[in-house]
Amino acid sequence: MYYSEDLVEEVRSKNDIVDVIGSYVRLKKKGNSYFGLCPFHNEKSPSFSVSQGKQMYYCFGCGAGGNIFTFIMQYENYSFVEALQYLAERAGVSLPQVEPTQQQRRQADERARLLAVQKEAAKYYYVALRRDAGAPGYRYLTARGLSEETMKKFGLGYAGKYSDGLYRYLKQRGYKDKLLADAGLVTLDEKRGPADRFWNRVMFPIMDANHRVVGFGGRVMGDAKPKYLNSPETAIFDKSRTLYGLNFARTSRRKGMLLCEGYMDVIAMHQAGFDNAVASLGTAFTSGHASLIKRYTNEVLLLYDSDEAGTKAALRAIPILNEAGLVSRVVDLTPCKDPDEFLQKNGFEAFEQRLEGAVNSFLFELRVLRRGYDLNDPQSKTAFYREIAGRLLSFQDELERQNYTEAAAREFHIGFEQLSRLVNSEGIRLGGVRPAARPKPTAERDGRRREKEEGDRQAQGLLLTWLAEDERIFPVVSKHVSPADFQDPVYRQVAELLYAQHEEGSLVPARIISVFADDAQKQSEVAKLFHSPPAEGDAVWEKEHTLQEIICRVKELALRRMKEELNPADMQQMQRFIQMRNELDALRKTHISLDLG
Ligand code: UTP
Ligand code: MN
Repeated sequence: MYYSEDLVEEVRSKNDIVDVIGSYVRLKKKGNSYFGLCPFHNEKSPSFSVSQGKQMYYCFGCGAGGNIFTFIMQYENYSFVEALQYLAERAGVSLPQVEPTQQQRRQADERARLLAVQKEAAKYYYVALRRDAGAPGYRYLTARGLSEETMKKFGLGYAGKYSDGLYRYLKQRGYKDKLLADAGLVTLDEKRGPADRFWNRVMFPIMDANHRVVGFGGRVMGDAKPKYLNSPETAIFDKSRTLYGLNFARTSRRKGMLLCEGYMDVIAMHQAGFDNAVASLGTAFTSGHASLIKRYTNEVLLLYDSDEAGTKAALRAIPILNEAGLVSRVVDLTPCKDPDEFLQKNGFEAFEQRLEGAVNSFLFELRVLRRGYDLNDPQSKTAFYREIAGRLLSFQDELERQNYTEAAAREFHIGFEQLSRLVNSEGIRLGGVRPAARPKPTAERDGRRREKEEGDRQAQGLLLTWLAEDERIFPVVSKHVSPADFQDPVYRQVAELLYAQHEEGSLVPARIISVFADDAQKQSEVAKLFHSPPAEGDAVWEKEHTLQEIICRVKELALRRMKEELNPADMQQMQRFIQMRNELDALRKTHISLDLG
């Protein structure tokens, strides 16, 4: 669906950012801005600022920032179009509709019917848990340490001893056999007739990220098999893309996500206050799960069972997490079996300590590997060291490889130099990567160059910040600097937009953000520009001096770039270059007057 720029702007301008964000975050007015606790990272003192004037927000702690669209996209995890639709509805702006195709409509209907029947089933189980007949279920959950509040939050229920209770209930409400079977709630057997899939179990409704029930897990009372029974996959339930607990975890203010194995682990952690816990359900962890997590965070702590099976599952999950670009660490819960048991026995503080002590997943892999070798036997020991070296080779980035080499050397009491040499010789032996030890000076030079580039970038950014901050600076700056002088592509684009807005007579920074709607990274970069903390109490002459320095630096960089691309045969270009150089020389000696009185 494509919406015109004007419409996007209309929706944006009709939703006041302080109003909207204020309904999610408690905001307090401070000077020209509102401040609150950032909903995108965990913090104790407010560094999340919302500017009513600019209609933008920015967090000085974690760098999240943007306009009202970005906020809704980030907070609700909506796409741009979803955020637009949501905000349009909120402000009473009607959006043009497109007719869905017949197939789209059929699929939507099917999904709607499935969602409706799952919701109805969840209600049935929920009520059943609280009836007399549900007492065994209620007793069971209570005995496992769950509070009434927790049971309610997770919508826990009970499937009774009758084999067709749910079937009859749903039939009464007009649901057809086929739908009930498709939904996986009922089995249709020609001889025995229709029967409930779940009975004599406590029921865990599985919800998607928007709190809609898409399926169930049921745990048998006692020791019968199978212990857990799950709904089959349907059009609304894709196990490789569903994480139990995500509907709560996604808005948690705790850092990262806690990934565990089961329903009870998730629930126990949430009850204890670790509301960023999720689990993949009865299936192996997939790349679908990883990319789902990646939408909300960059960091995962693994809390799989401490047994052999759990360790294996963790070893399988780690590369999948890495592949998705997530940083993963592994939490040791021994001697307890799983998070549920650990929390029961040791409580919040001890658990928090274990989280803090989580080991980097690479080292975890090595630790597990180590169990297979006898380090008292020279041959076995050699093989183990070789294996470590081989794995270290997988780090393409030199610095990263060095750091991991250092960590592994420390962990297994190998000399760093020795291990590095082994890594090199393994590289040569295996033929592939040849990590020729690069001389240090290059690294240092790289570092210095990076610093300088960063400084150049900062100067460009600062100039934009000032331009957006104070319109009176505009005429002074635009005399010397044009958008083309900005070398950073994003900054140049922002400059072009700012200059154009200024030409039209009014600066609307929030509108500029919409231009970067499909790139969250750029959006927060731009938001940051418009939210730099004001340099307080500087005297005018200091400002003037700083401004002159920034302008010179930006021009200097532009000139340097021009020189690199200079074609000596092109006279016009040469002349322009010389002219610019002279201007810069002059500018260095000029006193820039702001006259802001
Ligand atoms: P566990 O057997 O470790 O379950 O399986 P648990 O959560 O510790 O169970 P309790 O504490 O005895 O109730 C971990 C997860 O694997 C899935 C379930 O999602 C379970 O939570 N599982 C396990 C199944 O799907 N089917 C099974 O038969 C067993
Ligand atoms: Mn378990």
